[in-house]
Amino acid sequence: MEKLEGEKHVKYILSVEKRKDDFESLVMDHLRINGAYWGLTTLDLLHKLDCVDQEEAVSWVMQCYHEDCGGFGGNVGHDPHLLYTLSAVQILVLFDKLDVLDVEKVSNYVSGLQNEDGSFSGDMWGEIDTRFSYCAICCLSILHRMDKINVEKAVNYIVSCKNLDGGFGCTPGGESHAGQIFCCIGALAITGSLHHVDKDLLGWWLCERQCKDGGLNGRPEKFADVCYSWWVLSSLIIIDRAHWIDKSKLINFILNCQDKEKGGISDRPDNAVDVFHTYFGVAGLSLLEYPGLKPTDPAYALPVDVVNRIFFRK
Ligand code: FPP
Ligand code: ZN
Repeated sequence: MEKLEGEKHVKYILSVEKRKDDFESLVMDHLRINGAYWGLTTLDLLHKLDCVDQEEAVSWVMQCYHEDCGGFGGNVGHDPHLLYTLSAVQILVLFDKLDVLDVEKVSNYVSGLQNEDGSFSGDMWGEIDTRFSYCAICCLSILHRMDKINVEKAVNYIVSCKNLDGGFGCTPGGESHAGQIFCCIGALAITGSLHHVDKDLLGWWLCERQCKDGGLNGRPEKFADVCYSWWVLSSLIIIDRAHWIDKSKLINFILNCQDKEKGGISDRPDNAVDVFHTYFGVAGLSLLEYPGLKPTDPAYALPVDVVNRIFFRK
């Protein structure tokens, strides 16, 4: 059996942070703050967050902040969006640096994106998606400002995106998709609303995502992909149905997607690695209790010790 090449993955992530002008950095330009969250969380799960210069990272995150509205952009000079605001808050909380934030202003930005029907727009342009419901709810929960939104309406909107197969889509009537299911289940878990979920029905749909090669796919008829180790497994754990998949086959699938020489994890065996799949591979292994990794919280997508620090301090 393969083993986790933790040290090589640390080197790979640190090297991506330094390269500013190769292909991966170029296509990731507008996603840099998401990339930083994936990379830094991976380092933390591997007990190596101290390899990065914390002050430099925090000061860069704050350069993505828009003081006028309270939101964060995906990179310095980019427009604010809920996706990037959540990543910024997650990075700051990883470093235990939420005190640099004007929490009132950031949470007003987030709550200002809630619509009359309880849904959330991603930014001022208005696109609606249950991904944004998750981003808003996760972000406000970390900031202890859930009272800023209408939680009941937010929950009802998510429930209106539930399908007959037990899964969830991006808007009412949208096809069930594992990424969207993570967002809806994560948001329902954070708001204490899991009673709206038929756990057996959803658990059945989710465990059917395991393919012959041991990996998980995001929808019927698709190939397995390492990122779905996260989207599917975190949801199964939240609804207490993780024992419905073959964990050791999934561990093997993820380990087989490693670049054993240069580090990093790809979506499928023998493909090119990237930071996104490296994070979801390592976080997936952490959910599978692979030895040597910090445990991950399946709803907040952060190390459990970080989540405990958010809620059990003071
Ligand atoms: C599939 O992506 C994934 C989703 C639709 C979920 C995205 C969730 C967020 C952005 C919320 C924040 C997430 C975390 C972990 C904090 P895809 O576009 O790759 O789907 P495809 O495989 O169908 O192309
Ligand atoms: Zn993927």
